[in-house]
Amino acid sequence: MSKYNNNVIQMLYQYAPDYVSGEFIANQLHISRTTVKKNIDKLKEEGCEIESLNQRGHRLLSLPDKWYQGIVTSVLPEDIYFNHIEVFDTIESTQLVAKQKLVGNQDHFLILSNEQSKGKGRFNRPWDSAKGKGLWMSLVVRPHVSFDMITKFNLFIALGIRDAIQQYSNDEVSVKWPNDIYIGNQKVCGFLSEMVANNDGIEAVICGIGINMNHQADDFDEALHSIATSIRLHADEKINRYAFLATLIEQFDKRYQQFMTQPFSTIKEEYKNATNMWHRKLRFTENGTQFEGQALDIDDSGYLIVENEQTGELKKLMSADIDL
Ligand code: BTN
Repeated sequence: MSKYNNNVIQMLYQYAPDYVSGEFIANQLHISRTTVKKNIDKLKEEGCEIESLNQRGHRLLSLPDKWYQGIVTSVLPEDIYFNHIEVFDTIESTQLVAKQKLVGNQDHFLILSNEQSKGKGRFNRPWDSAKGKGLWMSLVVRPHVSFDMITKFNLFIALGIRDAIQQYSNDEVSVKWPNDIYIGNQKVCGFLSEMVANNDGIEAVICGIGINMNHQADDFDEALHSIATSIRLHADEKINRYAFLATLIEQFDKRYQQFMTQPFSTIKEEYKNATNMWHRKLRFTENGTQFEGQALDIDDSGYLIVENEQTGELKKLMSADIDL
């Protein structure tokens, strides 16, 4: 992609639905009108619907299902600070790239990719990350807290993601402790938080978030049909990926600030109300061992209190794989 492409699309996006003249773009970006024209032709090739009229200039009518770095940068809330945002077309995994880029600096940053060839879920499961449909991203933050706070981090962030999705879904969105977001009985989002820590505590948290945003039912593999959903399937229209990203980042930041300043007990009731797993039979897998039972409560540290149906034993879980 030409190095100006992001700036050109950013300007068209900023002025849409109005026309912007080639001359104005050229002057603003200090490039020639021929370069502007070449960039606009390239954007059209990529699927941007741009109307170009001789006397008036160019105007953006619609965007393809694709992230443009220039637009991502301009839609994020102004008070949210990232040292850098990087957008890729195809990479193995945003988690992997984020991990490579956090070494030797203290940056907070965002990695987004249109597609992942080796998207990774919890327990190293593959994460289906097809092009154009979902939001696959990793956020790197530097909380400088003790490493046992990672459990609490997940609890706060889960609420942020849930709230963002709820703003776009007609149906109720809920949290499945500890790392999943559901609409009804189907998963719409999974996230994972990996940390880099030393004896002094956490150096960085890499929070990888995968959200099925605009999938239609038949975009999912057969095996996922009954268990996966997308926001689009619970909304009246296609989700505007840029507006949704801005909402998600805003909600993430709100909960991150809360995580840094407040104990889990402040949001415990809110978290319990947002969670979809109370008073029903569940199958837990903890360190390779399976048992059935019910989730009874969550304690102030964020541990799930569960009852083993067979033995009547109460257990505190810090993490587990749970089948609804
Ligand atoms: C899960 O439910 O198992 C967690 C899934 C997390 C998937 C996201 S997509 C963006 C980031 N990159 C990855 O490879 N994984 C996370």
